[in-house]
Amino acid sequence: MPSPDFQSASPTPAQPVAAAPVAPVRVIAVASGKGGVGKTSVSVNLAMAMVNAGQRTLLLDTDLGLANVDVMLGLSPRFTLADVFAGRCELRDTLLEGPGGLWVVPAASGKRHMTELLPQQHVGLVHAFSQLDLPIDTMVVDNAAGIADGVLTFCQAAQDVIVVVCDEPASVTDAYALIKVLNRDRGVSRVQVLANQVQNAAEGRQLFGKLERVASRFLDVTLNYLGAIPRDEWLRRAIQRQESVIEAFPSSPSAIAFRDIARRAGQWQSPLGPSGHVEFYMERLITPARSAVA
Ligand SMILES: Nc1ncnc2c1ncn2[C@@H]1O[C@H](COP(=O)(O)OP(=O)(O)OP(=O)(O)O)[C@@H](O)[C@H]1O
Ligand SMILES: [Mg+2]
Repeated sequence: MPSPDFQSASPTPAQPVAAAPVAPVRVIAVASGKGGVGKTSVSVNLAMAMVNAGQRTLLLDTDLGLANVDVMLGLSPRFTLADVFAGRCELRDTLLEGPGGLWVVPAASGKRHMTELLPQQHVGLVHAFSQLDLPIDTMVVDNAAGIADGVLTFCQAAQDVIVVVCDEPASVTDAYALIKVLNRDRGVSRVQVLANQVQNAAEGRQLFGKLERVASRFLDVTLNYLGAIPRDEWLRRAIQRQESVIEAFPSSPSAIAFRDIARRAGQWQSPLGPSGHVEFYMERLITPARSAVA
C-alpha cells in the first residue's frame, strides 16, 4: 500500500536551495463554503498579483475533486498531489514553475476527493511544506468548496483566511456556515471577506454587512472587509485563454481590483510566533529569521 504519511518522507534535499536565514511565510487560505463563487479565480489572480509585486509566491491547489489551478494557468503537471497521496512521488516532485516564477503545487481532477483522505493526511500535507526548502514569502492555498475536514485544516493552518462570497443567498449562508465551524471548532478568530462578481461597490459592502451582522451576534470572530472584485467579462476571457487576468488583461477592472487586494493582503501583520495548533511553516515561526522580508 502506498504511504501517504508525509512525515515519513525520505529526508533527501529539495532541488531549490533555500537562502538562510529564512523568514516566516505568509500563508493565505481561500475558501467559500458554496462552490463556484470564484475561489480558484481569486487564488490564481491574487498569487499572480503578488508575484508581480515582487513576492516569491507558491500557489497550492488542495481541491483533489475538481482541481483547476493548473488548467487556469495552462500548466501541464507531471505529478500532482493525488500522486503524492498515492505514494507515487514526493511533494517536491509536484512543483511547477508558472508565469513570472510563480510556484504551483497542482492537485488532480476527479481522481480522489480530499474528503476521502484521513485527517492525519491533511495535517501531514501541512507539515510536508516545511521540508520543501523553497524560498518563498507567501503561499496562497486554494480550497475545495464545502466544510470538509481538509478545508478546515488548511484554513486553520493558514495565518489568514479569505472567504469569498457572491450575491446569492446560498453563498452567504454557506460562507456563514464555514466561518462558524472555523471559529467554533478550529479556533479561527479573524476572517477576511472578499465579495466577488459584484455589479458595484455597494453590493460588496452589503454582502459583507449581512455576514457581519449575524457573525457578530453569534460568533466570537472578527470579520474584515477585504473588498470586492467586479463581475468582469475580461476575467472569463482570461480563463478561456488559460491565463491569469493579471497577465492577460492587466488594465481590466478585475485585474485592478486583484492588485489592490494583493497590496492590502501584503500589509497584514505577520504572525509573531506559532499559534499552538497545526500550522504551515511552523518551523520557520519557531526559528524566526534575523531579517524579516518586508
Ligand atoms: N469576477 C468574476 N467575473 C466574471 N466571472 C467570474 C468572476 N469570478 C468567477 N467567475 C466565473 O465563475 C466561474 C467559477 O469560478 P471559479 O472556478 O474560480 O470558482 P470556484 O469557487 O473555485 O469553484 P469550485 O467551488 O468549483 O472550486 C469561472 O469559470 C468564471 O467563469
Ligand atoms: Mg475552485
